[in-house]
Amino acid sequence: MRVLSGIQPSGRLHVGNYFGAMRQHLQLQAEHDCFYFIADYHALTSNPSPDDVVAHTLDVVMDYIALGLDTRKTIFWRQSDVPEVTELTWLLSCVTPVGLLQRCTSYKDKVSQGLSPNHGLFAYPVLQAADILLYNSELVPVGADQKQHIEVTRDIAIRFNNTYGEILTLPKEHIIESVAVVPGVDGRKMSKSYGNTIEIFEPEKSVKKKIMKIVTDSTPVENPKDPDKCNIFALLKLVASPEELAEWEDKYRTGGMGYGQAKKRLCELMTDYFEPFRQKRTELEHNIDHVKQVLANGAERARAVARETLEKARQAAGLRK
Ligand code: ADP
Ligand code: TRP
Repeated sequence: MRVLSGIQPSGRLHVGNYFGAMRQHLQLQAEHDCFYFIADYHALTSNPSPDDVVAHTLDVVMDYIALGLDTRKTIFWRQSDVPEVTELTWLLSCVTPVGLLQRCTSYKDKVSQGLSPNHGLFAYPVLQAADILLYNSELVPVGADQKQHIEVTRDIAIRFNNTYGEILTLPKEHIIESVAVVPGVDGRKMSKSYGNTIEIFEPEKSVKKKIMKIVTDSTPVENPKDPDKCNIFALLKLVASPEELAEWEDKYRTGGMGYGQAKKRLCELMTDYFEPFRQKRTELEHNIDHVKQVLANGAERARAVARETLEKARQAAGLRK
């Protein structure tokens, strides 16, 4: 099956990104024909500095490769290296009712968080639809927050096909639900925009500092505690073995355990979990040329597919001699 997903280059990736999305992206590689890209055109909708776009793109690429992206099998590229996607965006825009975009909640959410209400941000779902449709994607693994964008993509594809003939493949969404929302160190959803993240490749010392500051309630050491209401436990769930997790659950419910103890173990487990990938990450940092080569190869392979779909869409819409 053709699987496609994109991730915005908005900084170093965090543990929430890993358990909420990347891990599943990496697992899908074994059985499917995967297309993954760095959505740098999308990132421009929040007006980052040009230097940040460059640095963050490389960071995300290195994180993915270090964690196990198979660069020979999976097609991995930078969205803007295949500018055909912007042309398809235009063709799709011309069959997209404004009302459909007005119903998208992410625009309103982002504007209420302080992003500029620019046209790119409003048209963001059309560019996302073009990403998906350009590569004939069948399955799009995304977090629940992206469900509406996949529905919009299907809607736009149906309208295009009704107008011009059966050109575009309708994708199915594949909501990643295996992990609930990963909490950040302040208890809210872990997110770059809340500054409450633990980065995947953060130095051990700094991970420790953050984990030690995780907010807990004031239940005395000797009293029983509810693991389901504890942020430390929610993070332990991601990195502890089932046996060890069961032991911690027991300690919580029995009482006599201090949160400091659980935090200490969480630090160890969290750093151990990503330890096997650290060396690879460091090697990549010292070999940026290789990283750029991976992107260049990916772009070439992606572009071949993109050109074919775009050409069909152009012809169908009357952009022909
Ligand atoms: P952020 O909120 O840090 O800006 P993004 O919105 O760029 O993260 O998310 C990239 C991917 O990671 C999405 O598929 C999203 O569903 C997933 N993700 C982000 N934060 C979390 C979280 N705290 N828990 C689970 N999944 C998450
Ligand atoms: N909007 C997605 C996000 O913020 C990123 C994205 C862009 C995407 N284009 C895509 C995801 C195409 C899946 C398919 O997470």
